[in-house]
Amino acid sequence: MIAGISDISIYIPKYYLPHEELAKARGVPVEKFHAGLGNQNMAIIPNWEDAVTMAANAALPLLERNNIDPDEIRQLVVSTESGVDHSKPVASFVQGLLNIGTRCRVYEIKHACYGGTAGLIDSIEWISKHTNDDPKGIVIMTDIAKYGFGTLGEPTQGAGALALLVEGNPRLFSLDTLLNGIFSKDVFDFWRPTGHRVPIVDGKYSIDCYLMALEGTISHFRTNHGLKVGELMDSLDYLIYHMPFTKMAHKAHRHLVEIEYKDAGREEQEKIFEESFARMVAPSLSGVREVGNIYTGSVYMGLVSLLEAEGKKAEGKKVGLFSYGSGCGAEFFLCHLKPGISRIVDSIGFKEQLENRKKLTFEQYIQFYSKSDEEILYYPEEARGFKDEFTRFVFTGFKEHRRQYA
Ligand SMILES: CC(C)(COP(=O)(O)OP(=O)(O)OC[C@H]1O[C@@H](n2cnc3c(N)ncnc32)[C@H](O)[C@@H]1OP(=O)(O)O)[C@@H](O)C(=O)NCCC(=O)NCCS
Repeated sequence: MIAGISDISIYIPKYYLPHEELAKARGVPVEKFHAGLGNQNMAIIPNWEDAVTMAANAALPLLERNNIDPDEIRQLVVSTESGVDHSKPVASFVQGLLNIGTRCRVYEIKHACYGGTAGLIDSIEWISKHTNDDPKGIVIMTDIAKYGFGTLGEPTQGAGALALLVEGNPRLFSLDTLLNGIFSKDVFDFWRPTGHRVPIVDGKYSIDCYLMALEGTISHFRTNHGLKVGELMDSLDYLIYHMPFTKMAHKAHRHLVEIEYKDAGREEQEKIFEESFARMVAPSLSGVREVGNIYTGSVYMGLVSLLEAEGKKAEGKKVGLFSYGSGCGAEFFLCHLKPGISRIVDSIGFKEQLENRKKLTFEQYIQFYSKSDEEILYYPEEARGFKDEFTRFVFTGFKEHRRQYA
């Protein structure tokens, strides 16, 4: 049995800041954010939510929609680089909130933005091997992309979580994990030393590392699939890239076209880029444009965007996904979308979530994000005014050094 994904769910915080507001306040031409980075709005997470609540808020609908008893879950993997504790995994908090039983492997996994894919591949392989009781697994990617005020990374912030249901005879998509293209290398492009609230980023270098990793994974993928240079794009229907900001997908796709069509002239390459980008890549962009970077879940938010944008047209199609994490690790892999998936896609409701968000002013954004750790730990005064806007799981503060949720 080869396991795969039967359903996917997404959770995005209810608040957002338009890039227009950010540009005005920072004295930057808005075109830099809209045209240069390709982003319109960014998700802002309030202080009564964190990586745990977003993870649980994403996963609960998976159990409900599929009528799954939490006791049926045999593996719960949470990928994050926004962990809340050095020892106790986010996955254990989520196990508690979702009432998942004790006969379940529960752990957290980290490798910057690549951690989500590492968790997904691990889970698919484990579930595939354990055929004795038709096991089910849940893989969650949950992250808060926060940078310092006024830094170059600030306009690429975002927050959100994805949850994927893993089982045999998958209904949404399958993948053959043995044929993936892999690349990893020890580099310092983006890191967050222990104790730092925001990451340290060598932004331009991180783009170079990303493109180097793309090239490495494509080369390995071609070898595994017996493809010659120039044959990759014709073997796929769609391409989804890891997207820290929307324009990264343009840079990545342009690089792929240059590699795959290296003997074509500049003009011919540009023609291939324009046509293939509109057809293969553009359907996956709506999420990142509205939400920003969500680290581990980025490439999977691209998949949700594509599924909602293409609907029935996507059924039975082949999607190439490129997952990149700083540090760095990357994987290029192929998903086979199943026929008859439109009912699953109709229940995702990503567009509705985006439409029902609340716009913040720049001052409100600063208020949310300038709290010190101590203020956040004992925040409930602030949360009281927003009670009507609470989502299903919220963080309520600390009791004897233990995080409390409701
Ligand atoms: C992405 C990042 C490096 C951009 O940094 P930056 O110094 O602000 O970038 P630039 O000045 O090059 O501006 C970004 C783009 O906007 C364009 N731009 C700048 N001003 C503009 C304007 N007024 N109108 C239109 N476009 C404009 C630039 O030409 C550039 O486009 P290009 O990349 O196609 O050349 C920075 O946001 C960052 O560090 N982000 C976090 C790390 C990250 O996301 N890494 C990605 C790989 S994992």
